Amino acid sequence: MLLGSGELGKEVTIALQRLGCEVIAVDRYPDAPGMQVAHRSHVIAMTDGVALRALIELENPHLVVPEIEAIATEMLVEIERDKLAEVIPTARAVRLTMNREGIRRLAAEELGLPTSPYRFADSLAELQAAINDPIGFPCVVKPVMSSSGKGQSLLKTSSDVKKAWDYACAGGRVNHGRVIVEGFIDFDYEITLLTVRAIGTSGQVETFFCEPIGHVQVNGDYVESWQPMAMTPLALEESRRIAQAVTGNLGGRGIFGVELFVKGDQVWFSEVSPRPHDTGLVTLATQRCSEFELHARAILGLPVDVTLRRPGASAVIYGGMDEMGIAFEGVDAALAVPESDIRLFGKPESFLKRRMGVAVANADTTDEARARAKLCASKVKPVKVD
Ligand SMILES: Nc1ncnc2c1ncn2[C@@H]1O[C@H](COP(=O)(O)OP(=O)(O)OP(=O)(O)O)[C@@H](O)[C@H]1O
Ligand SMILES: [Mg+2]
Repeated sequence: MLLGSGELGKEVTIALQRLGCEVIAVDRYPDAPGMQVAHRSHVIAMTDGVALRALIELENPHLVVPEIEAIATEMLVEIERDKLAEVIPTARAVRLTMNREGIRRLAAEELGLPTSPYRFADSLAELQAAINDPIGFPCVVKPVMSSSGKGQSLLKTSSDVKKAWDYACAGGRVNHGRVIVEGFIDFDYEITLLTVRAIGTSGQVETFFCEPIGHVQVNGDYVESWQPMAMTPLALEESRRIAQAVTGNLGGRGIFGVELFVKGDQVWFSEVSPRPHDTGLVTLATQRCSEFELHARAILGLPVDVTLRRPGASAVIYGGMDEMGIAFEGVDAALAVPESDIRLFGKPESFLKRRMGVAVANADTTDEARARAKLCASKVKPVKVD
């Protein structure tokens, strides 16, 4: 049972079905991308623990596979405890990573991993005090529970603080009015290190690393990614050390997207998602097994192969309008770009900045692949259907 059935869940569903699994897609709205390819589907509020448990008792799945953060994770802990289903990778991993406080305290305070300096605040006054000492400017304020950059702002001077507080309170998933303030890391680049915990040749769970993925974020949302990201040997080694430590602690089987900031040989842990990562859509083109196939294999206890086949890149296709049931023109021109491919997710409703599809492309170098992926994406034109 997939909890969250967006574009990432759709690819996981396809991968699982190719291995003969029965997949039940769940999301909060009908006709979600993953539902279009699943055996059957349900529409529920996944933040409603009672409804979630009732559905799991009804369907009795072997595995519960979260695809998004906004889930009643306390109920997943109970479901795991009551042995109703196996939660992927573990209920604790899903609970800790849905809240920035859980994962940040684990990484920095328990595991001693390098992160940006940070404080938590429950009021504007607490936020101001934390920025005065010790965080300083520039800094980044985020709701403790949010994703895709929602409610997040970069602050440069004291006149930005109140605006950032109000924006975070409005943009959080639940209006807890609790934020994290982080010192701004002036990184050279940021990566996603896809890390797989899967049964290895030893018969035990082992850790496998995909080649690092470079990406560009605009307002907390990814717009393009490429693989492999060229790194110094020391930065790569440190990235793997951090990813091994955090995913090893979270445990279970499956793929993790470990987000890291890099400057020279120095690496900071930012956050981790215990599921396929949006920047990892590039692996549809680059790897022998995409991140979705790796996730499927890992959760089924099958061997994984993280080999990179050819450098590549991905570029996001946005809706460009607020409209129901849009169509796309220019797909022919897009696919005429050498070594390119696209995924149009089939989301029933378009928003101006909603991710409606992705273009991927390969080339001899990531620079060329990025140019191809962007060209391919630019040819796809969302249009209204009369
Ligand atoms: N402390 C920081 N210093 C510098 N840049 C930052 C910092 N925190 C966040 N960013 C930038 O903002 C982006 C989004 O931040 P973060 O990943 O914490 O938010 P998010 O809402 O979880 O986003 P997503 O769900 O897309 O991963 C980062 O990828 C990075 O580009
Ligand atoms: Mg992030």
